[in-house]
Amino acid sequence: MTTANDLQLNDRGQLRHFLSVEGLPQALLESIMDTAESFASVTEQTVKKVPLLRGKTIVNLFFETSTRTRTTFELAAKRLSADVLNVNIATSATTKGESLLDTIRNIEAMHVDMFVVRHAQSGAPHFIAHHVAPHISVINAGDGRHAHPTQAMLDVFTIRKHKGDFTQLKVAIVGDILHSRVARSEIHALRILGTREIRVVGPRTLLPAGIESLGVKAYYDLDSGLEGVDVIIMLRLQRERMNGAFIPSEHEYYARFGLTGKRLAQAKEDAIVMHPGPINRGVEIDSKVADGSRSVILQQVTHGIAIRMAVMSMAMRHDSGEKMA
Ligand code: CP
Repeated sequence: MTTANDLQLNDRGQLRHFLSVEGLPQALLESIMDTAESFASVTEQTVKKVPLLRGKTIVNLFFETSTRTRTTFELAAKRLSADVLNVNIATSATTKGESLLDTIRNIEAMHVDMFVVRHAQSGAPHFIAHHVAPHISVINAGDGRHAHPTQAMLDVFTIRKHKGDFTQLKVAIVGDILHSRVARSEIHALRILGTREIRVVGPRTLLPAGIESLGVKAYYDLDSGLEGVDVIIMLRLQRERMNGAFIPSEHEYYARFGLTGKRLAQAKEDAIVMHPGPINRGVEIDSKVADGSRSVILQQVTHGIAIRMAVMSMAMRHDSGEKMA
């Protein structure tokens, strides 16, 4: 039987595609973070470039909107000296009925080396990875409700920078877990890294039934869910993936699950506040908390560049015979 990791890893255990965090070895996640650490200094230099991917062509294929992920993938590719092609889906032949596979086949014919794919359909990046030529890598930039692996990696990278040892940490993920690919990928990454306790917090309508089977504790009350935690990850309501009424009103949701300064006091004194963005102020988080001293939300965005440089450079050496760091 073919597993997801038969597709993601080559026979030397090196990253070939990056489609999901689920089932990856702890050593590989740590290697991605260690590699990102080395790239973080590059992004602080006057000349923010290294020649690692010179001559390679990376294609950004975003079938869904994005601010942070698309731009940081582009910056990361440019800082690795790759050529970057941003395909504008709204003005592409997709609007004339061209299939996903035909779009891929045509761009592949331009001798490209990597596809970075965001798609509303869960599984679209896996589908593309099954069909591309052996030298091409596919990176999942978010597919439906399924996975957002580079977001999870930049989140655990941010947590590691602030808190160190995952085995000592209590982490609460708060909000619309049901529709969140970010939550799913974060839970897998945090578990692989040995996190002491992972909590999911939200109304019953927004926590998937049986979520405990992923190794998390479910809380339906924000104050108890935040008690004593080291890290709070807030999520927005993902209305684009909702097909019904999951909350009575945004006003009521904010009253019960919005992170305010008073609610934050339930967490440890040095707890950090995270959010993958985009944030909806006054819906899931108070501006004073989002912009406050405990917030590391903009640091997450900065770390996204180094993490994406790490993932792209590691995936690009899968067929070079080079050993993983
Ligand atoms: N975190 C995230 O995926 O943001 P964008 O939708 O702006 O890429």
